[in-house]
Amino acid sequence: MGTINPGLNEITRCMSDDQIRVISITSGKGGVGKTHIAANLAYIFSRMGKRTLVLDADMGLANIDVILGLAPRFNLHHVLSGEKRMEEILVRGPGDMMILPSASGIQEMANLSAGQKLTLLDEINGMNTGFDFVLIDTAAGIAGNVMYFNMAAKEIIVVVSPEPTSLTDAYALIKLLYRGHNEKRIMVLVNMVKNPGEARDVYRKLSKAVEHFLDLSIEYLGYILYDEKVTDAVKQQRVLAEVYPSCQASRCLLTIAEKMNHEQPANYNCGSLKFFSKATVDRGR
Ligand SMILES: Nc1ncnc2c1ncn2[C@@H]1O[C@H](COP(=O)(O)OP(=O)(O)O)[C@@H](O)[C@H]1O
Ligand SMILES: [Mg+2]
Repeated sequence: MGTINPGLNEITRCMSDDQIRVISITSGKGGVGKTHIAANLAYIFSRMGKRTLVLDADMGLANIDVILGLAPRFNLHHVLSGEKRMEEILVRGPGDMMILPSASGIQEMANLSAGQKLTLLDEINGMNTGFDFVLIDTAAGIAGNVMYFNMAAKEIIVVVSPEPTSLTDAYALIKLLYRGHNEKRIMVLVNMVKNPGEARDVYRKLSKAVEHFLDLSIEYLGYILYDEKVTDAVKQQRVLAEVYPSCQASRCLLTIAEKMNHEQPANYNCGSLKFFSKATVDRGR
């Protein structure tokens, strides 16, 4: 599973552009499980026969490759520096998911200029076609890069944990996401809960605040139970849903993936749009 160059033919084999679902997985607070969720949803979607791409957008602190046990030679940094084209840095991961790896420990990646961000999106759009799902694993918080990639997605999964700070940070993030971008689908996924009731409570608190202060409804996507098998899988650098397919967290992830696969937003007809809508993104710069 090294760096490969699948070429456009392979990437374009499948579906047409208007079917692509671009979903960012984001959070206010760090360490709530975004990368683990992105990797597992990508794996499950891939196993469902959906062509899935994961974009590691945690620029500067990349780790989806680590979680997946991959050691890509090239990453988005090489694309920005002009050394490689987007297709050349793609790597294939478990379940045949494709990954666009980012760079770790490069300060410049964490603070991309507007021009660099546009170059990235142009490059990604240039190789676009053939994917059913594009999952964007963002960094935490509300800094430039994060908001930029969130603006680029049409659906946003805000991951929260039951910790109070995770909730307040999620509220701050949703407030920013909402400003001028109410056409987006914002979903809440509660991770690391003891039981479904705890997840519902967390969602209720968050949605109450959001409805009251922002006059916005956010969707409840679901929950993932706290499960020590997650840490086990992370340590093994394997995808949880692959190594422990029937553990409780894997079952939750499967339920979420199935739900997402069935529930496509009604206004999802994005015609000839590529991965990212530049008009939307430009407003977020
Ligand atoms: N449902 C869960 N149960 C137990 N541990 C979890 C769960 N989800 C995530 N974790 C742990 O939380 C840590 C942070 O996860 P990660 O995906 O890196 O978060 P983020 O990308 O949001 O910073 C990981 O070490 C992972 O093992
Ligand atoms: Mg992460």
